[in-house]
Amino acid sequence: MLVDVNGIRLAYSDTGEGSPVVLLVHGFPLNRSMWDPQRGALRSAGARVIAPDLRGFGASESGPAAPLTMEQHADDMVGLLDALEVREPVVYVGLSMGGYVGFALWRRHPARVRALVLADTRASADTPAGRTDRQRIALLAEELESPQPAMDAMLPRLFSPHLRAGSLPEQLVRGMIGSSSSRAVADGERGLAARADSFSTLPTIDVPTLVIVGEHDVLTPPDESRLIAEGIPSARLVSIDQAGHMSNLENPEAFNEALIGFLREV
Ligand code: MLT
Repeated sequence: MLVDVNGIRLAYSDTGEGSPVVLLVHGFPLNRSMWDPQRGALRSAGARVIAPDLRGFGASESGPAAPLTMEQHADDMVGLLDALEVREPVVYVGLSMGGYVGFALWRRHPARVRALVLADTRASADTPAGRTDRQRIALLAEELESPQPAMDAMLPRLFSPHLRAGSLPEQLVRGMIGSSSSRAVADGERGLAARADSFSTLPTIDVPTLVIVGEHDVLTPPDESRLIAEGIPSARLVSIDQAGHMSNLENPEAFNEALIGFLREV
């Protein structure tokens, strides 16, 4: 489905009805299909599940060429909820970049958030070396007019050593990155590089929070999640066995158990 939000058409799925409303926000440079193993389980648990493609990604439009900032994505999420007439605060679930967007949403629109799930993400901003690398990938994607530089940089780091090459989660992620536009990769990397440090946000978060991390995550390692969980007064940390950065895809059973257990608590 498509809806007009902040001057662009945003693609989303919206299934189930009632309460709680769970908003699933994907990582970079992926799209909402990364949540396929969660949507059915959440619906069976009685939730209404909304999963958007962030601007520039999946089937959503990109708008004018500019860094895709976490603030813009957060404002788009509020625009989407308004368009769908979702007035109640949502359980926000974000993985990696989706987590960065979650921090921006909390800073800008805390009344829209009933609870937070921050999966495989970090509160820190990029290091200077990290920013330089993002700029390199952005320029190369533009030059080659291809998302391949993001594939080369990320794919080897997204899964644990337990995952067999060519298995379904890897094929899914390859498909998502491969179908991203070079523009989404370039504008996305520049938006990620510009994101704020969120450590000062952590103590302000006063809604129930679940922090999830794959035990083998090398992109946003477990230490980053520990720092998030220590900084948020109401947070709990769950480690997902036999999973790397894409913990929801690599071990969906454990991820869903943690997520649905948390939904029941809140
Ligand atoms: C993601 O999975 O969203 C990205 O790895 C985030 C990042 O590059 O920092």
